[in-house]
Amino acid sequence: MTITDDEQQALKNTGGLYQLDESNLALLLESSPLMWEWSQTACAGKASGGMEEWAKDGSDAPPRNCAWYHGTWQLFRLLNMVAVPPWYEFYGEALGSILRGKPDANVLISAAADYGMLCTLHESIGATDSQPRITICDICESPLMACQWYAQRNNLEINCLCDDLLATRKLESRSFDLIVTDELLTVLKAPSKPLIVERWRDLLKPGGVVVTTAMVGNATTPDLRNGFASRARRLLDTHADRFHGAEADHDELVRRCEQFAAYHTRHMVTGEAEVRSLFSDFELMYSLIETPGECVNPTSSFQIFARLL
Ligand SMILES: C[S@@+](CC[C@H](N)C(=O)[O-])C[C@H]1O[C@@H](n2cnc3c(N)ncnc32)[C@H](O)[C@@H]1O
Repeated sequence: MTITDDEQQALKNTGGLYQLDESNLALLLESSPLMWEWSQTACAGKASGGMEEWAKDGSDAPPRNCAWYHGTWQLFRLLNMVAVPPWYEFYGEALGSILRGKPDANVLISAAADYGMLCTLHESIGATDSQPRITICDICESPLMACQWYAQRNNLEINCLCDDLLATRKLESRSFDLIVTDELLTVLKAPSKPLIVERWRDLLKPGGVVVTTAMVGNATTPDLRNGFASRARRLLDTHADRFHGAEADHDELVRRCEQFAAYHTRHMVTGEAEVRSLFSDFELMYSLIETPGECVNPTSSFQIFARLL
């Protein structure tokens, strides 16, 4: 099974940075207070895994759960300060190329911060008039609640699983045609990166494809976190009008952003050699693009399309 011209074209579409359009803006303004509310009860403490891992290394006071991340993620999306699928233009074509070839594909979203990746998949479903089966697995309930919220509004059928992707036995081996996720490789620490790729390899049918992204760079230092927090404060001031419906006052939004910045930690990939090594069992295509970046602006990132041999 080889990569088609269509799929190769997807990786070349790298132009243009993300702009928040009117409909996505309206959706985020509606969902961001909900995400905060859900995160207060649905983000549970975990012995290991999840976004608490980000907070363990750099902080004297690590949080008990991942509410700091899921509750504030969409606030940062409104400021265009966190990596999201629309930063990566290849997703539309990459997902479309799979769905055109197999309209009833079995698709796994392998973790998602909110409904962002489901929305990207939904756009590709519309563009290809396909009817894939969709499973979303995340270690936390909050992003799954966001996906349910989005799915209900759009008459999408989804199957949600709350479990650790690295350990779960609830997903069937060799059952997925497509596994898609944004930046999970830079959420996980270096020793877990080969483990998640091994897990994807196990879950894919022969010829199945992983579509994902991975930022390239170094460790997230305290200076980078401080810079990220300053930018958030500046943008919150500049765009105060955007947050009238946030159900939190300006000082509270600043507090949430500062807390997120204090814990924010990317485990970026070191370069091409690491990506090649991770996907050595796959027929691999990738391209390097520039995104607005989170703590490092801009940031180089790999768009990855890997077909299981
Ligand atoms: C996929 S990443 C990056 C988010 C992405 N940029 C987006 O727009 O959706 C974040 C998600 O990974 C989840 N996660 C982290 N470790 C996990 C694990 N071991 N198993 C399942 N989900 C995990 C977190 O709970 C979080 O919701």
